[in-house]
Amino acid sequence: MEKREQIYEGKAKKVFATDDPERYIVSYKDDATAFNGLKKGTIAGKGIINNRMSNALMKRLEAAGIPTHFVEELSDRETLVKKVKIVPLEVIVRNLSAGSFSKRYGVEEGIVFAEPTVEFSYKNDALADPLLAEDHISALELASKEEVALIRKYALAVDEILTAFWKECGVTLVDFKLEFGKTADGTVILADEISPDTCRLWDAQTGEKLDKDRFRRDLGGVEDAYAEVMKRLLAHG
Ligand code: TMP
Repeated sequence: MEKREQIYEGKAKKVFATDDPERYIVSYKDDATAFNGLKKGTIAGKGIINNRMSNALMKRLEAAGIPTHFVEELSDRETLVKKVKIVPLEVIVRNLSAGSFSKRYGVEEGIVFAEPTVEFSYKNDALADPLLAEDHISALELASKEEVALIRKYALAVDEILTAFWKECGVTLVDFKLEFGKTADGTVILADEISPDTCRLWDAQTGEKLDKDRFRRDLGGVEDAYAEVMKRLLAHG
């Protein structure tokens, strides 16, 4: 597999073309941002952890029947993935109240929901990723009703599988964000990453935050938290 020109540089990853028109290479950076890029920093070694963690979780999901973009881990920071066109939706699943949910609805963090919630935001930096009602997804033609139904089904299945896995690791999966993409033939698959950047992960015993909220909220111990969840994942891999 030959790495060719850079296609795109995001806040946490770069994407490269390859000699195969159906494959991309993603390269994970240590750069971290929050609040739509307003806060910038570096989390040393994050790219390596997120690459390995995302791949391990995607493999697990793939084995459970969820189609993903994962093809092959190439190195510490680089992974070969299926080429997709990203559906411009941030798909957020929540099991406990936290973050923007708590802020928007004026409730404390840590309330356990009877059922997981799925919400969609418009992936659009210029608009700061506004929340979308499902009808708005159709009105804006971001995805068809069938695609939204499938994405919702996959997101809930991901939640069930990952909640059970993280529980084995002594970690509560509070919430997470997924992105989906479409391959050349229109198949919807899970893309982007699943990592402490995109999930809230709390120690099941103490409630200690083991994710990017340590960076967002200046809690300190950011690198240690990423290393700790990675260690637990590897111990239960
Ligand atoms: P929120 O509570 O800020 O809406 O975040 C919900 C989940 O989505 C949380 O696990 C962090 C993740 N997330 C991202 O991956 N990217 C983002 O840009 C934001 C705002 C949240």
